[in-house]
Amino acid sequence: MHIDIFTLFPDMFTGPLTESILKRAQEMGKLSLRLHDIRSWTVDKHNTADDTPYGGGGGMIMKPEPIVAAVEDIVPQDADVPVILLSPQGRLFTQDIAYQLSQNEHIALVCGHYEGIDERVIELVITDEISIGDYVLTGGELAAMIIVDAVVRLLPGVLGAPDAHCYDSHSTGLLEGPHYTRPPMFHGLPVPDVLLSGHEANIEKWRRQASLRRTWQRRPDLLLTAELSKDDKAFLLTLAQEDIEQRGMRPGG
Ligand code: ADE
Repeated sequence: MHIDIFTLFPDMFTGPLTESILKRAQEMGKLSLRLHDIRSWTVDKHNTADDTPYGGGGGMIMKPEPIVAAVEDIVPQDADVPVILLSPQGRLFTQDIAYQLSQNEHIALVCGHYEGIDERVIELVITDEISIGDYVLTGGELAAMIIVDAVVRLLPGVLGAPDAHCYDSHSTGLLEGPHYTRPPMFHGLPVPDVLLSGHEANIEKWRRQASLRRTWQRRPDLLLTAELSKDDKAFLLTLAQEDIEQRGMRPGG
């Protein structure tokens, strides 16, 4: 996969993109990543990339000319490359969107900064707008790094085991349950017996139920869209009954 990133602050990317799995993905040739400094496409002697907003108001707006010139120079216009603006106004990033993006051979990420970006950039070169959450960052750079990380780990061969991401939280529509490693007892806290039993079917059942329990407790909204078997639904009913009993309530009471 090839990823072009357009930013006013290319140095921000140095740590996250040159360590660990993203570093390995590049060394293995699974990922080629190019950072483009938008300021290189400014034409005045002060390299001005922002200006005051028409209509007044606080903050500065990123000027359209350098961004549009940068994207037009770098991204092939005829190749259906998604050009994604990171902004709090975008659609909310999810694991599903990460999967969809990972199917592309080439994507481009444009990092907004300051108060925002001239709207004509969006009309002319942006094909998608993504937000990583309902909060406002100082710029799109951290959001771009998060998207690169979530997308690149899905590329075939990037994680150790071929199906390593299939059981991730959100890949199954549910949260993952707890994990344990050695030692079997730590500060008086034991690893659940079933995980030491070697009984694969029981372990799988325990993991599924732990995942359902955690989702029920922390993100019940996910249960509305998750794929659930008859056994899953029966287990969720027992969780609901447990909750009702703990609150000293009776159904309908
Ligand atoms: N830029 C500023 N805030 C952002 C957010 N929440 N997501 C993506 N880009 C942003």
